[in-house]
Amino acid sequence: MARESRETLVLDKGRLKRTLDGDCELAGLQLHAVLSGVYLLSVLAQSYLLGMALRFLSWKCHLVLCFVFHFLSCLCKGQDSSLSPMKNKEKEIIYSVIQGFVGKGWNGSYLYPDPCGWTPIQGVSCEQYDDGFWYVTTVNFGPFFDNSLLCSHDAQLPPQLFYLKHLKVLSLSSCFRSPTKNPVKLPLSNWDNFSHSLESLTLRSNPGLVGTIPSTIGNLRKLQSLVILENGLIGELPLSISNLVRLRQLVLAGNYLVGEVPANYGRLSELLIFDASRNSLSGVLPPTLGFLDSLLKLDLSSNMLEGELPRQLGRLKNLTLLDISYNKLRGGLPMTLQEFVSLKHLILSNNPIGGDLLGIRWENFQNTETLDLSNIGLEGSVPESMAKMKRLRFLDLSNNNLSGNVCTSLENLTSLRALHVNGNNLSGRLDFSETFYMKMGMRFAAWNNANLCYIAKPKHQIPYGVKPCVQNITISEGLSAIKITEGNYEDSFVVASFGGSCFYGLWWVFTVNGVLNVFLWNMLF
Ligand SMILES: *[C@@H]1O[C@H](CO)[C@@H](O)[C@H](O)[C@H]1NC(C)=O
Ligand SMILES: *[C@@H]1O[C@H](CO)[C@@H](O)[C@H](O)[C@H]1NC(C)=O
Ligand SMILES: *[C@@H]1O[C@H](CO)[C@@H](O)[C@H](O)[C@H]1NC(C)=O
Ligand SMILES: *[C@@H]1O[C@H](CO)[C@@H](O)[C@H](O)[C@H]1NC(C)=O
Repeated sequence: MARESRETLVLDKGRLKRTLDGDCELAGLQLHAVLSGVYLLSVLAQSYLLGMALRFLSWKCHLVLCFVFHFLSCLCKGQDSSLSPMKNKEKEIIYSVIQGFVGKGWNGSYLYPDPCGWTPIQGVSCEQYDDGFWYVTTVNFGPFFDNSLLCSHDAQLPPQLFYLKHLKVLSLSSCFRSPTKNPVKLPLSNWDNFSHSLESLTLRSNPGLVGTIPSTIGNLRKLQSLVILENGLIGELPLSISNLVRLRQLVLAGNYLVGEVPANYGRLSELLIFDASRNSLSGVLPPTLGFLDSLLKLDLSSNMLEGELPRQLGRLKNLTLLDISYNKLRGGLPMTLQEFVSLKHLILSNNPIGGDLLGIRWENFQNTETLDLSNIGLEGSVPESMAKMKRLRFLDLSNNNLSGNVCTSLENLTSLRALHVNGNNLSGRLDFSETFYMKMGMRFAAWNNANLCYIAKPKHQIPYGVKPCVQNITISEGLSAIKITEGNYEDSFVVASFGGSCFYGLWWVFTVNGVLNVFLWNMLF
């Protein structure tokens, strides 16, 4: 950013000439451009791949430029030797802001005499405004790059921060680390200073950031992204956030927030992402969430939300992710689900929702890739229509009370990579092809279904934790009466321990009372 802007600066020199009053500032400006050249050339010169000629050339240039440098510094003698057209006040503010986070030992004026120019600070960037001066527009603290600015253990929110009147982006990650040793609160006042500039505010992974989210944050009317993720914040979601009508991203996840999702958040009509997961939000979801027309992602998982999913959510035609897992929702699977035509990921697991799978036309879910309905108290059977969700990659129906058969047509879902039906009351025989078992491996989970067995094929990969289907063929009195019944695992195990032998899955056991038990695992049926 800063480098690009530097080019603009050079191109804009003519215009600047008119706006700047002092010659010295202009000289500084030219010097700034010249020094960029020196820097570039010295980099070139250090490259051993370039010939001596170039080195000589750059050395010559260097000499010339050094001369220019001395000439210009003479011009500016006696005045502040500012190197880029940046107001001293702005410079001092950014130095003291950084000291507030990094510690007093950080010597900005020494290391970074020209923070918006030829000595840029990692994580800080600037823009030139119409008055010709450069202002800090981005401040980023966090462990993203090797030379990123990192907060010290006793970092504070320096009040000078709010004097950066052109700040557009503020991001503080892993900054306030201890809620006991160094608790830091967000100030109530001051946010107004940013009301005409701040577009993105990110406070991430700051366990030491405690207290509430101040309602004055609702004055940041230009805000497009508000990310308050994984901090130690308490209290309710501020109603005033509904004033931030330009918001496209609202992430409040991983704090200790309580109370209801405010109904007036329905005003945030440009919102694309709303994530308030991993808090302690309670109450019923407001129907007004259905007004968030543009919403792509709604994640309210791991809270204590109650009641039913509001019918109005069906208006969210562009929604691709709906995650409301780990809450206390009830009332069965709402019919409105099938109106989410764009939905790719539907995750409702771990709610006492109840009901069954039969009321929904699953063939409508043509874009769905992830469907997680585990542990939501489902009863009844698994409808055949679930095998028509063409793009499905992950289907989890585990830990419900589903009964009946597992339809073999699920094998037709060519994209399917995981199928979990374990922990139900499913019964009958699994009759998937060997290819299916091979493809799925352990991602086919069917254990903990007492009455489920699989029809064995020779040499195939067996579904983990499912018993083979065993059949008693009772042949008595000279093969005159043949009785076939389904057996269970325990029986076959006991009988096998009498000394049966295995010929490619065919078990022959003669029992004491003269009755022949033939255990067939396979292709005889
Ligand atoms: C910063 O560096 C300058 C130049 O070396 C020095 O004069 C000044 O005392 C230093 N300031 C701090 C706070 O170390
Ligand atoms: C939904 O997405 C489509 C295509 O991306 C877009 O044209 C439309 O404006 C979106 N609808 C809303 C309400 O944002
Ligand atoms: C499991 O399903 C069978 C019918 O297949 C039913 O008789 C039984 O009560 C069910 N068990 C439970 C725990 O729901
Ligand atoms: C299969 O035969 C064995 C031996 O006669 C018997 O103990 C078992 O109950 C039978 N199983 C079924 C399901 O009929």
